[in-house]
Amino acid sequence: MAITGSTTTSPRYSKVAAWFHWVIAALVIANILIVELTEDAARAVRGEWIGTHKAVGITILVLTLGRLAWRIGHRTPPQPATMKRWEVVLSKSLHALFYFLLLALPISGWIFTSTHGRAIDWFGLFPIPALPVGDSESLHETVEGVHKLMGSAMLYLGVLHILAALKHQFYDRDGLIGRMNPFAR
Ligand code: HEM
Repeated sequence: MAITGSTTTSPRYSKVAAWFHWVIAALVIANILIVELTEDAARAVRGEWIGTHKAVGITILVLTLGRLAWRIGHRTPPQPATMKRWEVVLSKSLHALFYFLLLALPISGWIFTSTHGRAIDWFGLFPIPALPVGDSESLHETVEGVHKLMGSAMLYLGVLHILAALKHQFYDRDGLIGRMNPFAR
């Protein structure tokens, strides 16, 4: 299927895949900003924002599971024929790493906050129970460390992803960004 009004002739992602992409991307950026910008806030204010961070994180987990289920049932468009073999391998590896982090980040957050046995309040609407991981301080500390490392990895990967998209748009001029346009008909 050719894209009218675009420089690319390769097929697009489906509307559903594109919406999953942009909604999850926006939530991940929001979640990183929440923890980073409220770092020095007063204890009570920080606590409120961490509550929001947890609720957004669980939302990302659910959306990622939905996105993966959709992806299993639907073929993704092939990469543009102009891409070199190493570029295809690199982009596929980075996409796989994204999916890993989109699952591992919220699950690790859920695990280490569960050691205190407290449920997650989902935007004041309903509680999400703590996982049955026991009350272990060493588990809490280890998994919290892993969570923070993966948060940094997500940040760097996101920057790399944006730079790659900009390279395609302005250097290769293959119209790759248009393939992820959720409004395109
Ligand atoms: C994709 C979803 C998520 C992303 C991208 C994310 C990212 C991050 C980042 C970047 C940090 C700060 C790391 C640092 O200070 O170096 C952080 C800290 C934290 N995250 Fe997450 N997170 C996610 C999901 C979750 C979930 C689901 C929970 C809990 C249910 C959670 C609980 C926490 C807590 C408690 C902290 C520590 C805050 C503090 O320092 O007091 N996160 N997260």
